[in-house]
Amino acid sequence: MNSISDKLQKNLADFKQEHLLTFWDELSGTEQHELDAQLESINFKYIDSLQNQSSEEKEKTIEPCATVLLDDSCNQQGIDSIRRGEIGVLTVAGGQGTRLGWSGPKGTYPATPISGKSLFQVIAEQIVFASKKYNTSIPWYIMTSVENDDVTRSFLLDNNCFGLERTDIFLFTQGEVPVVDKDGKMLLSSKSKIAMNPDGHGGVISALQRSGGLDEMVTRGVKYLSYVQIDNPLVNVVDPWFLGLHMGDLSSAEASSKCVKKMDPDERVGVFCSVNGNVEIVEYSDLPSEKASERDNDGQLSYGSGSIALHLFSIEFLQRIAEDLPWHKANKKVPFVDLYTGEIINPDTPNAYKFEKFVFDVLRFAKKPLVVETKREEEFAPIKNASGQDSPKTSHALQLERANRWLSLRGVQVSEEARVEISALTAVRAGDLVPSTLPSSIGANQKVIL
Ligand code: UD1
Repeated sequence: MNSISDKLQKNLADFKQEHLLTFWDELSGTEQHELDAQLESINFKYIDSLQNQSSEEKEKTIEPCATVLLDDSCNQQGIDSIRRGEIGVLTVAGGQGTRLGWSGPKGTYPATPISGKSLFQVIAEQIVFASKKYNTSIPWYIMTSVENDDVTRSFLLDNNCFGLERTDIFLFTQGEVPVVDKDGKMLLSSKSKIAMNPDGHGGVISALQRSGGLDEMVTRGVKYLSYVQIDNPLVNVVDPWFLGLHMGDLSSAEASSKCVKKMDPDERVGVFCSVNGNVEIVEYSDLPSEKASERDNDGQLSYGSGSIALHLFSIEFLQRIAEDLPWHKANKKVPFVDLYTGEIINPDTPNAYKFEKFVFDVLRFAKKPLVVETKREEEFAPIKNASGQDSPKTSHALQLERANRWLSLRGVQVSEEARVEISALTAVRAGDLVPSTLPSSIGANQKVIL
């Protein structure tokens, strides 16, 4: 039988977590070893401090916030910077496709309407396209979770990294935090395992720092990071117009974000607001309903700048604030081992607190944060739910509409019923389509992949 160190015993006693050893004598040698290692990796003092830190809610004044329009005027600065190798791409892909009913990492979900390319492939091909177009190399930083890291690595390797150099892809895993009950006691998910929760997409900044990613960026000369969520097949990954605005005429913003006009007050997107004078995103669940439905004199939603979770961050800024993001505490239903019976209980009501960080909390620390309004139909078709809003069905329709629109803009007679998929290896905006290579017309019921 293994024994645990005196230091750990003392920690467990000091922080009232001795119950975690309830089943110690029943465990096999290997299980004891695993539980010991897990306990050793937990910073009890820190977890204890989170409970107080995350519960403080100060009075907040929420007002609409100013935005600028994404226009065609300022891309040259952005192009020059991309050519100099100053941009990298960061994707948070720690989530599983649970809401979608998909059993693997969300990035492996088949997302495009005809060829069924995965969400990872959609992003990878845009990076390949931009690297060629601007004759540069663009590194891709991908955050996985403990749960999906292995599968994600195999998926990328099995697919030859979708044409990217392996040396340009950096996978790193997000952190995990123990789940606690209302008294601050950690839960067991099995007799030999403490229940843990991924630390949220905001964990990406400290995970990048811990893994050496931020230092690596500096060594490579990367100055700006294009942050993209994994779930949006219309995402514009390397956008010189956006970068040009971020860089500004005189000095660069530290963080810039894209927004679209919210469709209706109930759309489940975060909203850019001015909170106590700082630009912040207020989550849909946190925006008071009277504000969500308030309209200005023109009949537009006053709080209508919906976040599409697309940001540009300056690397120096991320280095400065890597450990500063606040924790959010959420009351959730978490299965746990009953300490008396040893049975696993699946609670009917929330029984535990999970701690998470949100990446958009960086905005409040940024100098000159910029919120840029872009066209929803060009850049936003998320896949989040198995059916209804933000489902594969709605996303496919939006992807097909955009392809048809791009073709019309380039002079192709295209029927509304035609089904066309445009690969990111061919074009990432209408202007990339070369008219001489396109058919003159595409009829109804035709299926075309370009
Ligand atoms: C998110 C935003 C919302 C925005 C919307 C746009 C949050 C809390 N809300 O909503 O403001 O309007 O997208 O589509 O972010 N992830 C990790 N690790 C984690 C948790 C999440 O990598 O621990 C990744 C997921 O893989 C996904 C992304 O973060 O790529 C978004 O997380 P999710 O919780 O699905 O947020 P949404 O409800 O979609």
